[in-house]
Amino acid sequence: MSSKSQAMILLLILTIFSFTFTPSSSDSITIYWGQNTAEGTLKAACDTGLYEIVLLGFLDVFGEGRTPSLNFTGHCRGSSCITLESEINHCQNNVIEVYLSIGGPSGTYSLGSSDDAKNFADYLYTNFLTLPSQKKKKNQVGPLGDVTLNVPPELSIVFWGLPAAPDAAPGGGYIPPNDLISKVLPHIEETCSTHSCGGFMLWDRFHDIESNYSNQVKHWDEQSACRFVTQVSKASLGSVSTT
Ligand SMILES: *[C@@H]1O[C@H](CO)[C@@H](O)[C@H](O)[C@H]1NC(C)=O
Ligand SMILES: *[C@@H]1O[C@H](CO)[C@@H](O)[C@H](O)[C@H]1NC(C)=O
Repeated sequence: MSSKSQAMILLLILTIFSFTFTPSSSDSITIYWGQNTAEGTLKAACDTGLYEIVLLGFLDVFGEGRTPSLNFTGHCRGSSCITLESEINHCQNNVIEVYLSIGGPSGTYSLGSSDDAKNFADYLYTNFLTLPSQKKKKNQVGPLGDVTLNVPPELSIVFWGLPAAPDAAPGGGYIPPNDLISKVLPHIEETCSTHSCGGFMLWDRFHDIESNYSNQVKHWDEQSACRFVTQVSKASLGSVSTT
């Protein structure tokens, strides 16, 4: 075997290795949960193994003197959401990050001043982001109990927000899984080579069950890795047979 083809095979192995094993966040799926009881429990959503991140929606009352309040429509509201504590722990123990989404379509919220914003930030930090030991020190039980929610590792991170079914976006914007994989993903991969990407962010768990969307896009990276490996193998076989 010539040294040229040996070098080619080494290159091939290195390339496959880096292509397949570099942790890439462009393929991870974030799902909104909390706006429809028919979507099932948070624990069940985490147990599907489809999602890397769950966004709890929503903390939909805050600012300008309002007492902040959770509203996971139908599942629980306000202080009754403490029942989610064990489910959040379950998700995090299975290496699924749990974020809190603030705002939403129907709440009552606004921030009136920078002091207002600071107070709200303090509220979020104390109730959802400090460690249980610090909460205990302050004798504080947050609306979600002792959980410490996750935060994105970087401040500027791109998530690709998508409706999980046509009726999740009555105004349009639904992209069928096949189109997503063949037409949109190449551009996403390009963007993610120079920006921090958080992957897909789907609205929402209910519509994902209905359409099986994330199941269909979940393994696109393996599919494209297979195509890539096949192409490189063909190319290197060609090169080996001609040297
Ligand atoms: C909770 O959210 C739902 C859906 O967004 C909304 O219809 C409902 O009015 C909210 N409940 C309260 C008490 O804000
Ligand atoms: C969902 O999609 C996956 C992957 O394409 C497929 O294996 C599975 O059978 C689908 N499930 C349903 C209920 O359609």
